[in-house]
Amino acid sequence: MPAATPTSSHDPAAARAAPATRSVAVATPGGRYDILIGAGLLQQPSAWSGLPRAAQAVIVSNPTVDALYGHALQQALTPHYGHISRVLLPDGEQHKDWASLNLIFDHLLASGCDRKTVLFALGGGVVGDMTGFAAATYMRGVPFVQVPTTLLAQLDSSVGGKTAINHPRGKNMVGAFYQPVRVVMDLATLDSLPLRELRAGLAEVIKYGPIADAAFLGWIEANLDALLACDRAAMAYAVQRSCEIKAEVVGADERESGRRAILNFGHTFGHAIETGMGHGAWLHGEAVACGMVLAGELSAALGLWPAAESRRLRRLIERAGLPVLAPAMPLERWFELMRVDKKAEGGEIRFVVIEATGRAAVRTAPDALVRQIIAQHSAQHGATENR
Ligand SMILES: NC(=O)c1ccc[n+]([C@@H]2O[C@H](COP(=O)([O-])OP(=O)(O)OC[C@H]3O[C@@H](n4cnc5c(N)ncnc54)[C@H](O)[C@@H]3O)[C@@H](O)[C@H]2O)c1
Ligand SMILES: [Zn+2]
Repeated sequence: MPAATPTSSHDPAAARAAPATRSVAVATPGGRYDILIGAGLLQQPSAWSGLPRAAQAVIVSNPTVDALYGHALQQALTPHYGHISRVLLPDGEQHKDWASLNLIFDHLLASGCDRKTVLFALGGGVVGDMTGFAAATYMRGVPFVQVPTTLLAQLDSSVGGKTAINHPRGKNMVGAFYQPVRVVMDLATLDSLPLRELRAGLAEVIKYGPIADAAFLGWIEANLDALLACDRAAMAYAVQRSCEIKAEVVGADERESGRRAILNFGHTFGHAIETGMGHGAWLHGEAVACGMVLAGELSAALGLWPAAESRRLRRLIERAGLPVLAPAMPLERWFELMRVDKKAEGGEIRFVVIEATGRAAVRTAPDALVRQIIAQHSAQHGATENR
């Protein structure tokens, strides 16, 4: 494990020099692929060679990300594909829907794309999830490459093969398991990411500590300032370790019947916040951060995890500038939303709890206890929310 990155002697020029490309191999029953991690990969020819050959490549993005990196990706792909086109989806979680998905299909059909056409998802988790779903279903499946440009997409959504769109009744309710042929993470793209998005991504980095790696949690605590400053070396390690943990977990359980569910730590509460507040009001990572506080407290209240460890997690989340207080929402609404959660079985809500720092399990909890935890950690009506 690398030592804590010193921020005091931080040399911006050195930080901007491209470090060596790191790679993480992901093996799942649905396929094997490599995740490439490094700064400047959009400009590095080796990152783009050896992909499936085809007459056409299609870059799927949104206007925000396309304006920043669309041209660079098109340049990188030019030596490999005779015809490259771009399709832009409206930006935002509220557009992760059928209408946007259809824009991709419309473009593919209008451009005469065949079953070999390779799709490139250039953007955050929204673009990645929709492009993956389009790739899974266009002509019963075409290859696709993830080029995630948000921290959340790099260490979470682009790894593991889950693709989906939202339904008005719930997030990610319609989708498929479908693996990319490669994931290319250019850490330089994080430079343009708004700080709020960076913090939201850090929530998922933090998540990997309590569920799978106690030493990583300590490393994050020691390196949080460097991560918030987007320090290249610290970020490279955080992304790599997160991807390793996610790859190890999904490799063992592609379809989430068992171990994979631990990745949803904080997500039962988090999805309720996201949906309850309206898609887009809370960022996914913000909702998950707050959800982890609740799930940590629940673990402690169930007598599974020391309360001091739950408080430690809460402090780290707070230091990262993430919300630790849930929004005011009627308790019935919480339960209604949590019952729609995909982990719920036969109406029973299942929570990811921490049994020891670095080890998680999935279980049910008495409704009364869950009510108590929510009530204790929610903003009162009319109070200023801790956002
Ligand atoms: N498939 C999975 O396993 C999985 C896991 C976690 C989350 N998700 C999904 O991911 C989505 C959230 O992803 P997200 O947080 O990346 O949100 P996002 O895709 O909406 O991106 C956030 C914002 O940042 C902009 N952006 C992206 N890259 C940028 C860059 N480099 N510079 C400047 N701006 C940039 C985007 O245009 C957008 O406005 C949710 O829909 C969630 O359901 C999926
Ligand atoms: Zn998540």
